[in-house]
Amino acid sequence: MALQESVVDRYAVVGNPIGHSLSPSIHKVFADDTKQQLTYNAMLIEPGEFPQDVSNFFSEGGKGLNVTVPFKQEAWAFAEDLSIEAEIAGAANTLFKAKDGKIQGHNTDGKGLIRDIKHNHDFNLEGKNILVLGAGGATRGILLPLLNERPANICIANRTISKAEELAALFGKYGKLSACGLEDLKEAKGKQVDWIINASSASLQGDLPHLPYDILSNDAACYDLMYAQVETVFCQWARQGGVLKVMDGIGMLVEQAAESFYLWRGIRPDTASLIQSLQKGI
Ligand code: ATR
Repeated sequence: MALQESVVDRYAVVGNPIGHSLSPSIHKVFADDTKQQLTYNAMLIEPGEFPQDVSNFFSEGGKGLNVTVPFKQEAWAFAEDLSIEAEIAGAANTLFKAKDGKIQGHNTDGKGLIRDIKHNHDFNLEGKNILVLGAGGATRGILLPLLNERPANICIANRTISKAEELAALFGKYGKLSACGLEDLKEAKGKQVDWIINASSASLQGDLPHLPYDILSNDAACYDLMYAQVETVFCQWARQGGVLKVMDGIGMLVEQAAESFYLWRGIRPDTASLIQSLQKGI
């Protein structure tokens, strides 16, 4: 039997687990606001079944996918063409079939972060000293877009220092990067850090590295890629230290979704009111 293209364009987010994902409700708002006819569902994929399930999705007429934990690397391997951000991150969170029939892989996480910082919060990273906590997949996804903002330096601090050094070497040709261990931060002094971006998954367990407040410049900002119903431990730490510019990852979540939507539909949805309502109600 010939496969029929569905009348309404189909999109989905895939991951495991996936029940908690806010993406279906975010994309429903985008579709309604921009009057786009589409469906967007959450699809659970079992370990080992990513390539088959995703092939089936596209061969059955599916238009595009968001990919979340733990499949972003598999999405990168699955894609036939990669954006520079996805290629160097080694991870893709957005897939779609291009006009030439090839599956394109993009990573919109970093762009989403930058858009949230610049557009929603009106901050500029040029010339700033940035400390990034963590050297895992989340850090890989944001480093290139961060470096494109021309900060003075990005220091990657990680529990396993070799991973931070690996990333500093990998991304070194795009800007000024250094690496250190979390232990080194205990000794650090000097009010030289303008931004701390928490990309470590430690806070999922409620953990926070020992960070002395006196590394922060007077006008420092702290951004947690995480978000939660209650304030994250990192945001609490920042506020308790008197930091005034404290942001969690809800804006980035919506903005990375908007970037995906834009790639798929060619329309940039409005994000401000959605971010506001999520901030009140997650
Ligand atoms: P993600 O895709 O969320 O980045 P990941 O690739 O597993 O997940 O990376 C998790 C990051 O959080 C790593 O930098 C990890 O440090 P290690 O490289 O030393 O493993 C960091 N991390 C996780 N739990 C941590 C903890 N309890 N304390 C400090 N760092 C932690």
